[in-house]
Amino acid sequence: MFALLVIFGAILSVNSLNITADQLNLLALKSYISHDPHNLLVTNWSTSTSVCNWIGITCGSRHHRVIALDLSNMDLTGTIPSQLGNLSFLTWLDIHSNNFLGSLPIELTNLHSLKYLNFNNNSFDGELPSWFGDFPKLQSLSLSQNYFIGVVPSILGGLRSRIFDNFSKLQVLNLQWNRIFGKLPSSLFKCKELTYLSLYHNALEGSIPREIENLPSLEYLYLDYNNLKVNLYLFLCQLSHLIKYDFTPLVKFAIL
Ligand SMILES: *[C@@H]1O[C@H](CO)[C@@H](O)[C@H](O)[C@H]1NC(C)=O
Ligand SMILES: *[C@@H]1O[C@H](CO)[C@@H](O)[C@H](O)[C@H]1NC(C)=O
Ligand SMILES: *[C@@H]1O[C@H](CO)[C@@H](O)[C@H](O)[C@H]1NC(C)=O
Ligand SMILES: *[C@@H]1O[C@H](CO)[C@@H](O)[C@H](O)[C@H]1NC(C)=O
Ligand SMILES: *[C@@H]1O[C@H](CO)[C@@H](O)[C@H](O)[C@H]1NC(C)=O
Repeated sequence: MFALLVIFGAILSVNSLNITADQLNLLALKSYISHDPHNLLVTNWSTSTSVCNWIGITCGSRHHRVIALDLSNMDLTGTIPSQLGNLSFLTWLDIHSNNFLGSLPIELTNLHSLKYLNFNNNSFDGELPSWFGDFPKLQSLSLSQNYFIGVVPSILGGLRSRIFDNFSKLQVLNLQWNRIFGKLPSSLFKCKELTYLSLYHNALEGSIPREIENLPSLEYLYLDYNNLKVNLYLFLCQLSHLIKYDFTPLVKFAIL
């Protein structure tokens, strides 16, 4: 009976969450923004108007909850609070080209509906979080031009190669201009939908795995400015269908 009450209570508390909860969590985000030089959020993100009319916010028509947050190109400085992970209806999260700092809160893993995540061109640092594999619906992951440090295998495969069970829908992976080192894991090539892969300008080494030929949808491949070796046969035969690729100038060609 007690267990039933607890479950019932949990259901009630989930149901009681509404757009007011989204507003509180967005106001928490606003309070973590220390510099807003164009005063974009200061007056606009005000409780006197509906969250759905705030700049950068899109609400869903069915549930009337926040489904998209786009604060790109606003010159904002700040950090990301754990409350952002409470926006459970979010499918689109784009804060590229600002000056967000620090590391990312693990609560972001609660954003189970996320399809598009773009943190490009900010100043995030620290370990590239291993929990990026926990977004089952993610189609596009872009974290370029930050100061993330990490070993690709630990994020995207290797020891945690089952991570790709959850990444089966990934079409875009952009980690260029970070400090990612180590070898390219062959498990990366389980992402069969991948059309765009950029790991340009990191510290990757070793050979590009042959499994890359198992990516039927791959059209764009950027791996230059690493210490990777390319098999010439692979390059001429398997990758010839790519629309755009760039391995030069620091990739060494090897006839294997
Ligand atoms: C949201 O839910 C709270 C109770 O949890 C309620 O007081 C409030 O009126 C609701 N707001 C809307 C917009 O439905
Ligand atoms: C906030 O910005 C949006 C989008 O630019 C605009 O439609 C809305 O009228 C603004 N609201 C206020 C209160 O300034
Ligand atoms: C939002 O998130 C914070 C911290 O992650 C949590 O303590 C709080 O209970 C959450 N509140 C709502 C209304 O979702
Ligand atoms: C990166 O963001 C800054 C603003 O923080 C902007 O001025 C710059 O043009 C952006 N660079 C790129 C390559 O998008
Ligand atoms: C896949 O995601 C679920 C939750 O969304 C998580 O429990 C599980 O551990 C993830 N699997 C892997 C291999 O990361």
